[in-house]
Amino acid sequence: MTMDNDLKSGDQPENPGTETRRVSTSGDIELGTYLEIAKGQEATKPSEDTGRFPGVDRESIIVLDFGSQYNMLIARRVRESKVYSVLMPPDSSWESIASLNPRGFILSGGPASVYDPGAPMPPPYIFEKRLPVLGICYGMHALAHQLGGKVVKGEKREYGHAVLHLNEQNSPLFQGLPPSLPVWMSHGDEVIELPPSFHNLASTDNSPIAAMGNDQGILGLAFHPEVAHTPLGKSILQNFLYNICGCKGTWTSGNFITDSIQSIKDTVGSGRVICALSGGVDSSVAATLVHKAIGDQLTCIFVNNGFLRREEAERTLETFRRNLKMKIKYVDATERFLKCLAGVIDPELKRQRIGEEFIRVFEESASQIGQADFLAQGTLYPDVIESSSPSSKASVKIKTHHNVGGLPANMSLSLIEPLRYLFKDEVREVGLALGLPEDVIWRQPFPGPGLAIRIIGEVTREKLETLRAADWIVMHEIKKAKLYRSLWQTFAVLTDVKSVGVMGDFRTYGNVVAVRAVTSEDAMTADWAHLPYDLLARISNRIVNEVPAVNRVVYDISSKPPSTIEWE
Ligand code: XMP
Repeated sequence: MTMDNDLKSGDQPENPGTETRRVSTSGDIELGTYLEIAKGQEATKPSEDTGRFPGVDRESIIVLDFGSQYNMLIARRVRESKVYSVLMPPDSSWESIASLNPRGFILSGGPASVYDPGAPMPPPYIFEKRLPVLGICYGMHALAHQLGGKVVKGEKREYGHAVLHLNEQNSPLFQGLPPSLPVWMSHGDEVIELPPSFHNLASTDNSPIAAMGNDQGILGLAFHPEVAHTPLGKSILQNFLYNICGCKGTWTSGNFITDSIQSIKDTVGSGRVICALSGGVDSSVAATLVHKAIGDQLTCIFVNNGFLRREEAERTLETFRRNLKMKIKYVDATERFLKCLAGVIDPELKRQRIGEEFIRVFEESASQIGQADFLAQGTLYPDVIESSSPSSKASVKIKTHHNVGGLPANMSLSLIEPLRYLFKDEVREVGLALGLPEDVIWRQPFPGPGLAIRIIGEVTREKLETLRAADWIVMHEIKKAKLYRSLWQTFAVLTDVKSVGVMGDFRTYGNVVAVRAVTSEDAMTADWAHLPYDLLARISNRIVNEVPAVNRVVYDISSKPPSTIEWE
């Protein structure tokens, strides 16, 4: 069933996609990471944050976000099914949504009960526009409540695995699925009476109405199809997208690249773009995309702060300058950065000094290459969502990752953020499709202040050499064990502890190196990795034998929380 929608392709904005906003740099704009100038200021107001991606006439599914912890996952699942999807607040205007060419809505779950005072409700256009709607958990309760059904507090809170029994085998939402399937529940309220003309599509032992729908394509699920614990959830979502919303599946990296390139060309015209290249996957993909669009109108500035890993600067230059033929201004500012950290032991002061120095170096380098009009950076969608979510504003500052300085006072640039609506896995896909080497695509995250926050205490040239040598061994062994991709981060830390050892017949008094390896989805939480003992033994042996001044290696077995990933 495909519902009509009253949008015409001509409704698209003139220049869809690449978001550019004028940044006056005289204000207190913050940095995202210190290599991503001006990211802090993309705490955009929702009205600016249109979610538009470069693609005239493409389709989208709008996820109205009622605050579920799984909200981003819904958008990701939809996109994995080749349909573009964005999260929008429930109070978004129809105008802001219409420009996205919506084919249907998903109402996310959320912590509210429909009986809470001020509980968020779907806006009226959800029904007026006659587009398909899928309510998930709270989204289903809100639909039932608004359309004349009855919702009550469930007698038993249903949380965890359940078995769903289908009542209607021929429902397009459950097409191709077995009569019973495992699902994941997480809800308190429950629909006990269907709204008029709705069918009861499925039940579980505790929820007689676990799925509902009417013939106009308004549907509800009491369980979460987006989570891995509902193994067939993706098929249900795909049925919604393709059987009910009539989507075509236009969200592919090929389309994204074509549309982005056109959009960047239209935006930049004959202007000049600069980009702070760090060698990380986000700035690398962003720069490559911009370069494909405008070639030598882009100049990348690659600042070596002296806190990079061994061979990192050389490899980045080789990839981008030699192989991809980009114009890169390489600035070796090691001396300057070392000087500004002299005597500094406080981690936050290190970050602040590095951030400020970076701004100075970047500004000087940019002025040497002439006036630029645009600044390209690799902001990703989770950053955009996070910076506009109420919880991120209320959270306590642990480390100033994303708050380390301001833009130079006399630069005035528009931002180009071609990855602004992509998730990390989509960025990787785009990067691969653009022909970036795998080692760039799969590079583990590396903090802006680099090795400076992996040396506990004052940073000196000698300590950097020691840490680089140890870090190189960790990386080499992890890669050799084929674990590099599956681990979020792996690195060495040079502690400020000295300990006694014995080598040959001699007593030694040397440094202690800590090895850190963690698994994580998003760095918000992390588990220490259970590395094989023989791998740990090899790493330890090699470090003690090959790195002068180190006589002891320890393995960090703390998770985040309560620890953090980095030691500083
Ligand atoms: P923590 O140590 O807070 O780190 O658990 C979480 C993630 O952030 C990275 N990190 C930083 N990245 N500038 C950055 O660009 C910083 O100052 C910074 N501090 C930590 C860290 O490597 C991990 O991926």
